[in-house]
Amino acid sequence: MTNRDSYSDNGSDLNSKQQIFYGIEDPVKSFIGREDKLRELEGLIQNSMLPAVTISGLAGMGKSELVKKYIKLNKSSIAICHWVNGDSAETLRSSLEQFADRLKVATIDAKNEQPLKLPDVVNNILAQVKETMNLFNERSYTIVIDNVDNLYDDFVNVTKQLCCYSRSSVIITSRIRDLLTGETELLELSE
Ligand SMILES: Nc1ncnc2c1ncn2[C@@H]1O[C@H](COP(=O)(O)OP(=O)(O)O)[C@@H](O)[C@H]1O
Ligand SMILES: [Mg+2]
Repeated sequence: MTNRDSYSDNGSDLNSKQQIFYGIEDPVKSFIGREDKLRELEGLIQNSMLPAVTISGLAGMGKSELVKKYIKLNKSSIAICHWVNGDSAETLRSSLEQFADRLKVATIDAKNEQPLKLPDVVNNILAQVKETMNLFNERSYTIVIDNVDNLYDDFVNVTKQLCCYSRSSVIITSRIRDLLTGETELLELSE
């Protein structure tokens, strides 16, 4: 996954003041338009009291591309950013484990050598993220949970956990319009 990263992230010292972009791809070279939706997304992320935005729209509408473009345009306001495949509980977990590996935080219980429970993996990620974020004054921690086309418990719980950190912005893409109604802002792509 790391070799597809578009941004400099050599995986070296986590305590150096270096942005971390993990699993983030550039938008397609042919990306055009969407100025209004990019502005709307920026506004929702900067001004909303809610820590999460759901981008909804039919398959192929351009949800994931919009997020990639947003990240590229707003790179200077982000300290840490990673992409999570939200297809299923399995992909969610494996994306988070890969990011945990990138941060060199545990995903396995040292005592019994069993995989940690997902909330514990996320807690470990958040602890390291907070430490690294202390090096950056204003920038945010941006998590993309892509392609959440059905509501499953691990997704809901992980999102709640990530949203508890005051500097997080969670961006979700989904075909479902009312995925987490009331708990996230909604940005609709309809054409
Ligand atoms: N703004 C855009 N300009 C040009 N092509 C786009 C744009 N948005 C999406 N596409 C094209 O449409 C395809 C599907 O977009 P994608 O973001 O993957 O859709 P979704 O995530 O909604 O399923 C992309 O692979 C890309 O080729
Ligand atoms: Mg998509």
